[in-house]
Amino acid sequence: MGGFFGDEGKGKVVAYLALRRSYRLAVRCGSINAGHTVVYGGRVWKLRLVPSAFVNPSTRLAIAAGALVRVDVLLREVEETGTAGRLCVDSSAGVIEDVHVERERSSEYLAKTVGSTLQGVGEAMVDRVRRVLRLARDVEALKGMTCDVAGLANEYLDLGYDVLVEGTQGTFLSLYHGTYPYVTSRDTTASAFLSEVGIGPKKVGDVIVVFKSYVTRVGAGPLVGEIPVEEAVRRGWVEYGTVTGRPRRVAPFNLELARRAVMLNSATGIAITKLDALFPEARGVREWGRLPQEARKWIEEVESALKTPVVLVSTGEEVEDAVYLGDGR
Ligand code: IMP
Repeated sequence: MGGFFGDEGKGKVVAYLALRRSYRLAVRCGSINAGHTVVYGGRVWKLRLVPSAFVNPSTRLAIAAGALVRVDVLLREVEETGTAGRLCVDSSAGVIEDVHVERERSSEYLAKTVGSTLQGVGEAMVDRVRRVLRLARDVEALKGMTCDVAGLANEYLDLGYDVLVEGTQGTFLSLYHGTYPYVTSRDTTASAFLSEVGIGPKKVGDVIVVFKSYVTRVGAGPLVGEIPVEEAVRRGWVEYGTVTGRPRRVAPFNLELARRAVMLNSATGIAITKLDALFPEARGVREWGRLPQEARKWIEEVESALKTPVVLVSTGEEVEDAVYLGDGR
């Protein structure tokens, strides 16, 4: 789960965990407005539907019933990642059509006030609520790719295998718990993603919330402590949206928001990305003992303020550039 406003680096964290923990199944939730970046094997993957766990060839991949797919984006990504044989889409996943994109593009409110990515996601949700949306099972091009993701996930869990659920966006873009109306068109907390997949709360072991070492936000809405662009450039904190290419707004790490994200998601662990943006000497470090002392101190302060252990720290773009703390330090 993202702990702030999306773009925390979930793609990287998920890919790392997928390689380290060998999940039997990984399920992507959400939709194409959320781009997940994975840098692996000398390539940069910008994924909008295929789970970031694809980097582990022994992990089966799925797209949740509560997700919304665009057929062309899905088929292209499946081909690019070479995952055709091991990825399936829940028969009940929703399908975004051109009409949804057109409806969003014609809304000045969405474009100007909300700052939507205008990918048609919200309008497809509208049609889903009106019960007129086409589902994956209705699409000829997806025949042979559909499955019962809830059935599969629960079967694996009952057999004692690990299943990874990949959330999208961030806690404060949640339709219910975010900064409404400057939010996305779904709930983006842990419980919502479980519901998208069809896994009950009793079957959950770990809930890992991902925070970046500073906060970014694309589009409109409040951002406490926002710093001017020039200052963001000076600190090396300037980023551009994966899907929209828009520059992201920037603020320093916000403990108060983080505390609330831990609460809303009932986090059992925290992943912190871009530690090297705060402590340049941390770049590329893969062992706890090799992190600069002030970086270790900062992590321990965050842990104690949030009363939740940090299980992973990311120190660079490459999937392997990380310090894993899940087994102690
Ligand atoms: P929409 O969900 O595309 O309509 O966008 C609504 C708001 O959520 C806008 O402020 C978007 O910038 C933001 N948003 C949606 N998806 C993402 C994401 O994956 N990362 C960051 N912001 C997002």
